Amino acid sequence: MVGKKSKATVADVSKKSRKKGKGKKIDWYDEFVDRKHKPKKKDVVALFHYEGERGMPAKEVLGRIASESSVGTWTTMPRMPKNLKKLKAIVYKWNKDTAYIDYPLELWEKRSIPQLLSGIAGNIMGMKAVKNLRLIDATLPREWIRDFKGPVYGKEAIRRIFKRRKGPITSTVIKPKLGFTHKEHAELSYEIWTGGIDCIKDDENLTNQSFNQFKQRVRLMAKRRDKAEKETGDVKDAFINITSGDLKTMAERIKYVHDHGFRYFMIDVVLAGFPAVMTASELAHDYKMAIHGHRAMHAMFTRNRRHGMTMLFLAKLARLAGVDQIHTGTVIGKLEGDKKEILAMKDMLLSKKVGEVKGIRMAQDWGKIKSTMPVSSGGLHPGILAYMFNIYKTSDMVIQVGGGTLGHPKGAHAGAKAVVQAVEAYHKGIPVDVYAKKHKELAEALAKWGHIRPV
Ligand code: 6PG
Ligand code: MG
Repeated sequence: MVGKKSKATVADVSKKSRKKGKGKKIDWYDEFVDRKHKPKKKDVVALFHYEGERGMPAKEVLGRIASESSVGTWTTMPRMPKNLKKLKAIVYKWNKDTAYIDYPLELWEKRSIPQLLSGIAGNIMGMKAVKNLRLIDATLPREWIRDFKGPVYGKEAIRRIFKRRKGPITSTVIKPKLGFTHKEHAELSYEIWTGGIDCIKDDENLTNQSFNQFKQRVRLMAKRRDKAEKETGDVKDAFINITSGDLKTMAERIKYVHDHGFRYFMIDVVLAGFPAVMTASELAHDYKMAIHGHRAMHAMFTRNRRHGMTMLFLAKLARLAGVDQIHTGTVIGKLEGDKKEILAMKDMLLSKKVGEVKGIRMAQDWGKIKSTMPVSSGGLHPGILAYMFNIYKTSDMVIQVGGGTLGHPKGAHAGAKAVVQAVEAYHKGIPVDVYAKKHKELAEALAKWGHIRPV
């Protein structure tokens, strides 16, 4: 009847339909659940947070997840492939809200992140039997990752590109986000570079607009970069956004950036998609360039703690696909992010091997794949950088200060100086307010923002 809500749950419907099957076995979810099962070292083991539909036993919910994400469907079939048994995913460990599912290696195409996600993050996210499902992490076996090249530099970018022994790499997004012409953009870049910042970063929505054209921006910035390098004696670079509507244009943009002497380019990882990132990575290897990975749109599926996929797993895939540095959050800045997850993610990105962190991260051995640096960005300014460094506890990272540079009362050049002074203060172990007594630009920044944490 129209307008009248049925009270039957998915669990009731599943019970009823089985009864109607007159005693015949109509589904086979139980074949995907086995507490005695032991995963092989070369399997992919995924960790999920799950919430089943009301009334449905955990075993049934989980059996459905394992089935749909590997070889199964909702009912039995008289004809089955002979090798089905060795391709089934098996749920082998679970409690009321988390489960470990073992996926045989043979399920996964070599070198295909989309195909992996079509299983462990595909249809299962929309099943009626599942109220909420979140892919927390998955182990990626050596046998599968060895076909990926990974990043060209990772944390070695500090030494090999910037010729320094220690990080962080500093960067600034020109703010306001959009509006400056390519000419103004290049002028501001010069002011910021000569103020001491290493890299200028494009914002995620700056690509090739009529008022700020990609080629013009690259060309003008290259000239200003050379001038800034000459004047400062330091290496200067930029994370120029090559994200495009098609892969041919993207490849042309990467070449253009490379031909203008930049050693980096930036890609919006989620928006462009993993095949684009992998193609960009091939070019990065050819040109010996580093990739800055922006994560715009990740929050669409990472933010809800009960559903979707974690930022940690997205960052893991970015490392695999060849991204040298990826946005991971600030903890204290304007963008949402859980501290424990951010720290587990940071270690996963920087280490060669990591262990399990219960409910947050699986163990991972990266083999020959280089590291990926975390990028802390979003609402940072000189007054709070020290808090963020104290949380991250590493200098193998990239910091990005946009509004906190260009919002400086004396402008972008002074803003850049203030950021650099705040970083220096931290490394010298001097509180920023004390360091500001002898550093004018820092004092001016603190007079405007103090230690506020933007929201
Ligand atoms: C980025 C991110 C993000 C942030 C800013 C940074 O592009 O780096 O999108 O982390 O929103 O764009 O700018 P602020 O330093 O002004 O926050
Ligand atoms: Mg941004």
